[in-house]
Amino acid sequence: MENKKFYVTTPIYYASGNLHLGHTYSTVYADAIARVKRMQGYDVFFLTGSDEHGQKIERNAEKAGVSPKQFTDKIVEKMKDLWTLMDISYDKFIRTTDEDHKEVVQKIFTQLYEQGDIYKSKYEGYYCVPCESFFTEAQLTEGKCSDCGREVEWTTEESYFFKSSKYQKQLEKLYKNNPEFLVPESRKNEMLNSFIKEGVKDVCVSRTSFTWGVPITFDKGHVSYVWVDALSNYISALGYKKDDDTLFEKFWPADIQFIGRDITRFHVIIWPMLLMALGLPMPKQIHSHGFLTQKGERMAKSKGTGFDPYVLVNRYGLDAVRYYLLKEGPRLDDAGYSNERFLNTVNADLANDLGNLVSRTTKMVINSFDSVIQAPDKKEKIDKELLNIANETLKKVSTAIDNNSNTQKALNDIFTLIRRANKYIDETEPWLLAKDESKKARLATVLYNLCESIRIAGVLLQGFLTKTPEKIFTALGITDDSLKTYESVKKFGADLSDCKVEKGKNLFNRLKLEDEIKFLALEVKEEKKEEISKMEEKFITFDDFLKVEMKSGKVLTCEKIENTDKLLKILVDMGDHKRTIVSGLALTYSADEMVGKTVVVVTNLAPRKMRGILSEGMILAVGEDDANVGLLTLDKDFPAGTLVE
Ligand code: MSP
Repeated sequence: MENKKFYVTTPIYYASGNLHLGHTYSTVYADAIARVKRMQGYDVFFLTGSDEHGQKIERNAEKAGVSPKQFTDKIVEKMKDLWTLMDISYDKFIRTTDEDHKEVVQKIFTQLYEQGDIYKSKYEGYYCVPCESFFTEAQLTEGKCSDCGREVEWTTEESYFFKSSKYQKQLEKLYKNNPEFLVPESRKNEMLNSFIKEGVKDVCVSRTSFTWGVPITFDKGHVSYVWVDALSNYISALGYKKDDDTLFEKFWPADIQFIGRDITRFHVIIWPMLLMALGLPMPKQIHSHGFLTQKGERMAKSKGTGFDPYVLVNRYGLDAVRYYLLKEGPRLDDAGYSNERFLNTVNADLANDLGNLVSRTTKMVINSFDSVIQAPDKKEKIDKELLNIANETLKKVSTAIDNNSNTQKALNDIFTLIRRANKYIDETEPWLLAKDESKKARLATVLYNLCESIRIAGVLLQGFLTKTPEKIFTALGITDDSLKTYESVKKFGADLSDCKVEKGKNLFNRLKLEDEIKFLALEVKEEKKEEISKMEEKFITFDDFLKVEMKSGKVLTCEKIENTDKLLKILVDMGDHKRTIVSGLALTYSADEMVGKTVVVVTNLAPRKMRGILSEGMILAVGEDDANVGLLTLDKDFPAGTLVE
């Protein structure tokens, strides 16, 4: 086959916080495609990574009291742990803080500047820090960020701009000549109608209002604005503009780049234009999937709907989660997640259809043939349909994947075989054959046909699930790796005579819906604990509270301090001593009104000199402003010096 290389990428994830189940979709999806392509014999390079620069990360780090790099180091560690949990088979994990990536970004900037594709101007507009996006007034939704609904900030600053307008015609041509460039079609129309037709605006590519970014070498104070830094990861990871660019030469252009629909504009307009400016070939396809939603809204941590993937994987196993995402996930359009839907899918497809097929079949081989899979005898008419389906499944799966990465169809095709095999058991009634010694040869054929169908399904599932295929092979007693390849399932009829089946555990337990729904509801609460503990950081402890000493005090004398509007000098009887307090109450209370009142005094506040007078404590009051305050007093008569508890 000519040029059997395949380069597949995921977006690089923001290293700003924990990732939720929705986030895992881009990566699990790309991983499935990478696995299928490897099985098809391609030399695959699968890239993922972390996006670590920008104002949001700078601010989050500041809040956490650490440097931005210390902050992202921690998050990247968690990100990698999550990808290990999800069995993501990436070949490289790029970080935008990698020194060699930064160098490439700087070289790209310099080249674009020198060839006149970048010019200095002034940026004025609304900026959403969490989304790192600029908006014009018209693009805001009720004055807020149209992507995440949060507050935006008015920003004016000197910036470099990329001359997108220069590449307008070339971009139009790209879309005209490459109908496959952007999937799905609906997104293409949206891009063409909303952004491309009216003329692409020049984009801001540098910032001066924060420093956490790749510095622009020819203009100190400017750092690369997120998209040039982030987008160029796809080529810097391969060694573009480096001494050793073998990988770049081999793998660029990308065969498929997976992204979520929120970042489509950047990947299908800015990214191609940047590549045009650099004189590089276009990626063959950008696949922009939808969102995983919950109750109709995009799953998002900020909205409290970000489901923790660890909860599902730890309880139901990784393959249940991978299966659900790849079968029910937002491949093109948004798709809703609900616990019920997840549990029902696991029960119906994995526990019932697949799990039962494997356990019923292996049990019969154990009971009737001392665990050894027998060579088949002659075929009968009733076998034909199963064999035909088994023979076609590899082709169907390959076509589904090659046709817009259709994991949903591919899994359906594999499960069509699994379901047909279950039906075959009902049709051939092997339990009756087992009772009749004269039908032993027929029973051997039926069980072989079932085992071979299961093997084919197991081989094909390797593209999507990472634990179950091996369990299936173990159950069938398949140890020979050549029986696990795509090549081996091109034709039904492998020699399984060396295989001794094993009675293993069920592949998937049948889940009790009610119990599991309760469990998951509790887990969500458990997850909220983290949020609560974050809130707790804002609280003081009881011990902290006890540090503040407050006592009742009786005002003995009071006078207005000269040349001030609001300050009163108050002498307070504290029971065992007297003290002077300066307080800003004069706009509400006259000096005379104060005398005789019982007030609440913070007694262990460090004394402070005000207008030359030493103030020894604070009198508590509530108030909207200085002209409208109300003193905290006691509703019973207590002696001066009584502790407030
Ligand atoms: N850093 C940028 C990408 C730069 S690529 C040069 C970014 N990062 S992200 O962490 O916010 O998102 C990573 C991926 O997760 C994106 O593809 C995004 O669309 C996807 N998802 C985030 N929430 C999602 C859902 N609720 N559902 C499906 N995918 C979602 O964007």
